[in-house]
Amino acid sequence: MCNTTDINREMGKHEIALNYCSNKHAVQKGANPAPKLILDGEVVEFVAGDTILQVAERAGRGHLIPRYCYHPGLPIAGTCRMCTVEVEKMVKLMTACSTPAADGMVVHTKTERVLKSRAGVMEFLLINHPLDCPVCDKAGECDLQDNNYRYGPVTSSFLEDKRTYPKAATKKLSEKITLNMNRCVHCERCVRFSEEVVKSCDLMMVNRSWHKELTLADDKLGLTSEYQGCLSDFCPVGALTFNDFRFVKRSWFLQRHPSVCDGCSKGCNIEVHSEDNIIYRFTPAYNEKINGHWICDTGRLSYHQVMDPTRIVRPMLAHNGALQATSWELAQAATGHLLETAKKVKVVIGTDATIEEIRYLQAALPDMFGSKFTFRSFNGTGTLSTSSQDKKLDHLLIMQDKTANLRGAEECKLAPLENGQINDSDLVLLVRFGRSAVPAVGNGQKLILLGVWNSAEQASLGAAVEVMLPGLATVEKSGTYINCDGIRQQFIPAVVHLGEGMAVNRLLRFTKK
Ligand code: SF4
Ligand code: SF4
Ligand code: FES
Repeated sequence: MCNTTDINREMGKHEIALNYCSNKHAVQKGANPAPKLILDGEVVEFVAGDTILQVAERAGRGHLIPRYCYHPGLPIAGTCRMCTVEVEKMVKLMTACSTPAADGMVVHTKTERVLKSRAGVMEFLLINHPLDCPVCDKAGECDLQDNNYRYGPVTSSFLEDKRTYPKAATKKLSEKITLNMNRCVHCERCVRFSEEVVKSCDLMMVNRSWHKELTLADDKLGLTSEYQGCLSDFCPVGALTFNDFRFVKRSWFLQRHPSVCDGCSKGCNIEVHSEDNIIYRFTPAYNEKINGHWICDTGRLSYHQVMDPTRIVRPMLAHNGALQATSWELAQAATGHLLETAKKVKVVIGTDATIEEIRYLQAALPDMFGSKFTFRSFNGTGTLSTSSQDKKLDHLLIMQDKTANLRGAEECKLAPLENGQINDSDLVLLVRFGRSAVPAVGNGQKLILLGVWNSAEQASLGAAVEVMLPGLATVEKSGTYINCDGIRQQFIPAVVHLGEGMAVNRLLRFTKK
């Protein structure tokens, strides 16, 4: 533990005024007004208004303070007592999550008193916890499990029967979420999320003390928010699990790579969790300016579209009125022939294409085949065609535009496709990546499809499709999107692409001999 002389020396080095300690020997005068405290012997600057836990987080030392009820995206509750620290000159241990930091404070996170307190909280929680880690979906990413390894007591003095909730051991709260109340540690993150963040108010705690129980506000309605997957992300134990991921994969097998959700124009930041290039889930990645800690369920579940078994992942060529799988050489040669012989070509690019893909097509096609091309963008979300028409669909994240790069298409000066324009050419190159809708195409026009298509989308265009060139989904490629707020986001591949899909610049390269 630091003594006052050590503190003076540390603080003096940084020329600050130490005005928290009453000891007059500790007071140093200095010019820098930024408040500082000492955390385990290290001087740490902080922003006025921070709690001790936030100071530790900002200093990259949040791992020193375990917590259950605290979550940076939720209002502070200060109920679990796991985060207690020792603050010099204060008699009791203080909860780091709810105690405001003060200039000159001296905080210790690893003293004997602190460790004893954490072991006490752990023992208290484990009295009733079923300890079914081997069959619990949260194992490997469970705060209770991790904290028990670090701070838990070796033995328990509790010999009585554990409290159980027989009616809520496996209770479906909705189609998306299952509750196992026996595992709940009563942190109430879920209740605060439902009340303060999504404002659906569909969860509440009933009863008191030993019998406290999480329950639905309305059993018939169940959970109603569009952000239910977040409950499973932040529940510190395996009490709330996301049905889509439940019993599907052990978390320690998953590789985690950053990417951007392309489910709407918000462009929430995500982590792609995969093993052997099979995606098992999307989870939120924190971005203060875009999505905070959350993503919506539609975006979360959108990995199914990438892994869709009906997605066309091999080049296809029309033969006897039907599309058949072929080689890249034949598909590229047929594409080259169609582009070479057409008189007028309309290139309709979905606003789910990256800026790089749009720019490449705008430059490469006229360069390779002459000035017969007209370029248009297509969004397909109702009547929306410009970003100024886009609007929020709720108070949190979800946008009306169901593509990720309408602003990027506008930056590339791609005019939106107006009704009827698609008729004025003999060949149409339709480029989309699974998000923008499929535009209606007039009779008598030949079609080349490029990008991410499933068999139903391709079939909706009838027999006019001559060639299908499979491209890459967002999580399989690199590129840039501009979101609804004008924020430019670059991303790199999170997984290796499915099947024989190719990046746009490679895919068109060999169409011209
Ligand atoms: S279900 Fe999870 S998030 Fe909700 S109170 Fe229990 S432990 Fe906390
Ligand atoms: S709000 Fe939009 S960008 Fe964010 S997760 Fe949902 S669909 Fe994806
Ligand atoms: S995290 Fe501070 S009291 Fe729960």
